[in-house]
Parts: sequence; structure tokens; C-alpha cells
Amino acid sequence: MRVHVASLTPTIVAVVVASIATACGSSSTPTTPSPAAAPTVSFSQRIQVEILTPSCTSCHTDEGRTPAAGLNLKSGSAHSNLVGVSSSGKPGAVRVIPGNPSGSYLVQKLEGAPDIVGLRMPRNGPPFLTDAQVALIRQWIQNGAPNN
Ligand code: HEC
Repeated sequence: MRVHVASLTPTIVAVVVASIATACGSSSTPTTPSPAAAPTVSFSQRIQVEILTPSCTSCHTDEGRTPAAGLNLKSGSAHSNLVGVSSSGKPGAVRVIPGNPSGSYLVQKLEGAPDIVGLRMPRNGPPFLTDAQVALIRQWIQNGAPNN
């Protein structure tokens, strides 16, 4: 009897491990979007109008003041102040790297990443941007950060 129990134990463990692996695999499959199917995000219509102008241009504008951090986010200036431009606050960081949302300093500042210089943006938050707003900015950067 002892021999039979001992030889069954590894089989039971293997079956349990296999079921967990199967459950994890099937639950994650439909929630992972393909980059090729990514929707186009309009910078001028969505990012500028819905996020940058209302939440950022009280400080990041050249109208009546010097833009905070030398970053002008008003309409017509924001794209050229962001894409491929070095950070004024963190050496080596780039504000927006097309195709690389997580590597873009703009995203790190909005998410309050642990290694940013200064504070999480918007600097007068909370409230900070919603998850959906940050996801939209991430999507635009993933799309190549077009000036569309
Ligand atoms: C209340 C004023 C204020 C608001 C509102 C604000 N910022 Fe800032 N921002 C600053 C200041 C001051 C700095 C520099 C100090 C710091 O980083 O904390 C800065 C720095 C930054 C930087 C880093 C720039 C660099 O080159 O290193 C980014 C990116 C940024 N802000 C994005 C935003 C975005 C996007 C918004 C809107 C969602 C926003 N900020 C809203 C004041 C503000």
C-alpha cells in the first residue's frame, strides 16, 4: 500500500499543475490586444483637446508666463515640444519616444514612476489623469506618436 500511495503523489501534482497552467493560458488570451489591431489615436482631437489643454496648460504654456520645465503644451506647440525632445529635468530621458510608451518620460511622469525627477504630473494633482487618459497617451505613442 505504501508503495502505491507514494507513486501516485507525483501524478496528482502533475495534474494540478497542468490544470492551473491551462486556466491561466485561456483567461489571458482574449485580453491581450494585438499591436497590429491598435486603433489610431488623433493627437489634435484627443490628446490635445481632451487632456493637455484642460489639465496641463495652466503651467505648461508660453502665454503670460515661461512654460514650466521649458515644456510648452499649448495647441500648436505641444507635439514639437514632446516628440524626440530631451527632458529638461532628468538627464538622458526623452519626453516621448515613438513606439516606446514605457520608455517615454511623459508617461513615467504621468504614472508617477519611482525614478522620475520632481513630482508626478499634473503637478497640482491629485486628481491625476485617469487610467483611460494615460492609456490613450500610451496608445498614441505606441502608434508612433504621429502629429495627426
Ligand atoms: C501646477 C503646474 C503644473 C501642471 C498643472 C502640470 N505641470 Fe508638468 N511640470 C510642472 C513643473 C513645475 C515641472 C518641473 C518640476 C517637476 O518635474 O516636478 C513640470 C514638469 C513636467 C514634465 C517633465 C519635463 C521635462 O522635460 O523633464 C512633464 C513631462 C510634464 N510636466 C508633463 C505635464 C503634463 C502632461 C501635465 C498635464 C497632465 C502637467 N505636466 C501639468 C508644473 C505643472
